[in-house]
Amino acid sequence: MVGNSSKLIQDRKIIKKIKDGKFKIAIYGLGHVGAPLAAVWLRAGAHVIGVDNSESVLTEARKGKTIIPEPNVNEAFRKGIDTGRFELYDDAITASRDSYFKMICVPVLSQDQELSANLTAVSDVATMIGRGLKKNDLVSLNPSVPPGTTEEIVIPIIEKESGLSVKSDFCMIYNPERIYEGRAITDIENNYPAILSSLGPNSSQLAYTIYSLIFKKGVLILKSIRTAEAEKLFEGVYRDVNIALANELAKFCEVAGIDFWQARDAANSQPYCHIHKAGIGVGGACIPVYPQFVLDVANKMNVLCEVTNISRSINNGMPAYCVRQAIKLLKFSDLPEAKISILGLAFRGEVSDTRLSPTYAVITELQRFGVKDIRIHDPFVSSDPNLLNYDNVLLTSDLKKAIKNSDLIILSTDHKEYKKLGKKFIGNIPVYDGRGLLDKNSVNKLKILTIGQGDIKIS
Ligand SMILES: NC(=O)c1ccc[n+]([C@@H]2O[C@H](COP(=O)([O-])OP(=O)(O)OC[C@H]3O[C@@H](n4cnc5c(N)ncnc54)[C@H](O)[C@@H]3O)[C@@H](O)[C@H]2O)c1
Repeated sequence: MVGNSSKLIQDRKIIKKIKDGKFKIAIYGLGHVGAPLAAVWLRAGAHVIGVDNSESVLTEARKGKTIIPEPNVNEAFRKGIDTGRFELYDDAITASRDSYFKMICVPVLSQDQELSANLTAVSDVATMIGRGLKKNDLVSLNPSVPPGTTEEIVIPIIEKESGLSVKSDFCMIYNPERIYEGRAITDIENNYPAILSSLGPNSSQLAYTIYSLIFKKGVLILKSIRTAEAEKLFEGVYRDVNIALANELAKFCEVAGIDFWQARDAANSQPYCHIHKAGIGVGGACIPVYPQFVLDVANKMNVLCEVTNISRSINNGMPAYCVRQAIKLLKFSDLPEAKISILGLAFRGEVSDTRLSPTYAVITELQRFGVKDIRIHDPFVSSDPNLLNYDNVLLTSDLKKAIKNSDLIILSTDHKEYKKLGKKFIGNIPVYDGRGLLDKNSVNKLKILTIGQGDIKIS
């Protein structure tokens, strides 16, 4: 964007206001997305109001702590509290009154592991923001949402509650978060450009100026909010479809006597080939969810999204498929008596997030076969209320305890710690490696079955 001199003066004024702490930014929802975003604004010198409906989230934040283990967030929170630039509110309307810029970072995923969007929290927060909204305020919606959500749901709520109009009185921005858990701050500050689309007076220019302050990779402004909403979903669909392709090829390799991992490495040495990793399942609050948002909208419009649909079902079927492969490693046929250890509950390596983790489907499948003794190890997850839904499942951070006297180990999450597991530790326990993580030379070759490799000879 090229600006004239009056625009430059206006830009400088806003940036000065943000850095002087006069342009207060309210972040609604201090979770995986909101906490790092609050931290990034604090690191940029802004005055941040954190809003959350969880008392424990607010209590920890007041002590300068986030409940999300994300590098550098605690430091930013602590410094913000010490300098008086970070305030925590439980009153969402007052937070709206006291701030100029409001960012909605609450979840759109229902608690019951359904993949369709649940916009209750977004609508609740939009209502509260609307009740405290002032002329010339800015509101940004940040979660990934079905296309149409900002214009058809959020703006009407804010307009109704505030009596103001987006055409003349306030700015509405859609800005999808594009972070990868575990490196969220770096992602926002250094790795990706911000994607924005907006409505309202002078809104693109304002949004561009404000977001340029924290996104070093720049800001991409899209003409329509619907397109920006779809962009974020496409990132997830692309990943899901490509993982499904990898899973399909891995299953083919298993029957055809081909090493998927070697073939993949070789194929990817060509610049137009990007075969993803095969795995026991796709979890987390993003990749399995966004294709479903696309499919839900497509269904309403009678549009077929066949590749997206079939990919979802391939990936959904992976935990059950892998369990069927894994139990072939058991020496005896009395499956209900087997002691089975699962390595990893988090949905992917090096994080504690268990949302929609494939490990849950692995447990369900094992229990369907009648397995009564299941132990789960995860170095990042010490407790998990979801496990109360399953009988006879033990969760431990003690790896030795998890695999003691085990008849079978199923590696479900690619935590780095598991890569180092060697013969001495595992001994003769057979291992199903659902992530292609283990080095066959460091464990008992005859006792390991890796997804995508069908060459096991069970002794
Ligand atoms: N987790 C990711 O890596 C990621 C990445 C990109 C986008 N997203 C998107 O961001 C959205 C938010 O995800 P998250 O991972 O931060 O969720 P989260 O569950 O980690 O955090 C949400 C926070 O919002 C709070 N909250 C819930 N309802 C509220 C309400 N009505 N008022 C105030 N606070 C409320 C919760 O207490 C929690 O602290 C997701 O739905 C997803 O679309 C997530």
